[in-house]
Amino acid sequence: MSEMPTMDTIVNLAKRRGFIFPGSEIYGGLANSWDYGPLGVELKNNIKRLWWKHFVHARLDMVGIDAALMMNPRVWEASGHVETFHDPLVECKSCHARFRADHVDTAKPCQNCGKKGTFTDPANFNLMFKTHLGPKQEDATTVYLRPETAQAMFVDFLNVAQTSRRRIPFGIAQVGKAFRNEIAPGNFIFRTREFEQMEIEYFIPPKGWEEHFETWLKAMHNWIKLCGIKTELIHEFEVPKDELAHYSKRTVDIQFDFPFGQEELYGLAYRTDFDLKRHAEFSGKDMTYTDPISNEKYIPHVVEPTFGVDRTLLALLVSAYTEEDAPTASGDSEKRIVMKFPPYLAPYQVAVLPLSKKPELEEVARKLALDLAQKWSVDYDVTQSIGRRYRRQDEIGTPWCVTVDFDSLNDNQATIRDRDTMKQERIAIQDIPQYIQEKL
Ligand code: GAP
Repeated sequence: MSEMPTMDTIVNLAKRRGFIFPGSEIYGGLANSWDYGPLGVELKNNIKRLWWKHFVHARLDMVGIDAALMMNPRVWEASGHVETFHDPLVECKSCHARFRADHVDTAKPCQNCGKKGTFTDPANFNLMFKTHLGPKQEDATTVYLRPETAQAMFVDFLNVAQTSRRRIPFGIAQVGKAFRNEIAPGNFIFRTREFEQMEIEYFIPPKGWEEHFETWLKAMHNWIKLCGIKTELIHEFEVPKDELAHYSKRTVDIQFDFPFGQEELYGLAYRTDFDLKRHAEFSGKDMTYTDPISNEKYIPHVVEPTFGVDRTLLALLVSAYTEEDAPTASGDSEKRIVMKFPPYLAPYQVAVLPLSKKPELEEVARKLALDLAQKWSVDYDVTQSIGRRYRRQDEIGTPWCVTVDFDSLNDNQATIRDRDTMKQERIAIQDIPQYIQEKL
């Protein structure tokens, strides 16, 4: 088995092959902002689509929403974010570098300027980004960029319950951007100030949350397997009572062995009826749910599985990265880098590679590529030697390469190469879509 890649290896590959670039790079970048390139956006969209298919479409007890990013500021008062969504901040009095107080030993010299005994006392720093609606920059127009997607599921609960005709237990899912003015972003896309979440608020009766919690924990592990994250690098961490978020009665973090250490990948929290109760109190709207069959009335409780999109993608890059010895045409061996993504998540499912730029070959190859592109994501590459093109496709994780050669013009067959085994088979061009369909 391949060893764990370093972060440098992952970051370099991501840039070299077009998965992820530094944001605003031609202007010298913007601290810890990253842009997803042509391959990154495919991988990210595939993750989000698979998640939605798995957790929303493939179940009868789930519906989705796509809410506005900016919400009435009262939402964040009710949720507790205005009051408690803080990190403790210390500043070096000498160089003015700022650190999260829980990430730095203030007894030691400043890690930025090397001076000792210069830190301020910790002060609370609210992580929400503020902006203003409309042209007046005054308190009355302050709004926040949402720091989690979750609150919209609570705020929209009554509308969703009424219109979707779902009966508790049921869940509301949402995928979208969240923003946090992190004091210490870093480790590539692991901690950024702008990121994406895939969240579920699962509404349950006041009794029996333990069973739902265990069921969701298993469901989260199943998802991890489905998306090809190495399960041997996964750990559960029971968050101690005194470290729980203000809304949570129990939280289990699912952690992953990233190259920089074991850190949170996902979280599962029992949020009780905290959020709906607070929104009832702050909005004056009754959040009581009446069971249509038993007529029982209660404020629903909530189990929340939450998944970071960017952390999923990072864990997947780390899990998929493989270095192997591969035989060369001359009989030697060379190192080959292969991204072993599950085929349904790979940025491209197929690459079509005409052996040469001869127009008669390109005509057949382009037609095949366009046929396949109606169903899957397809790369078409005609430059460089076929060996180098295979290596490139291995490195971006394309499960199948189809080579169209001069024999193809006579026998209507092409060579299909498997990314993982490197085995090549010759099959009729018209059978290629079915071949791929069966393997996916
Ligand atoms: N609604 C609950 C909630 O937001 P959280 O643990 O603060 O809980 C959920 O965030 C998930 O969002 C995390 O498990 C992680 O995957 C992702 N996440 C949180 N902060 C992040 C950041 N600054 N950058 C990238 N992903 C982040």
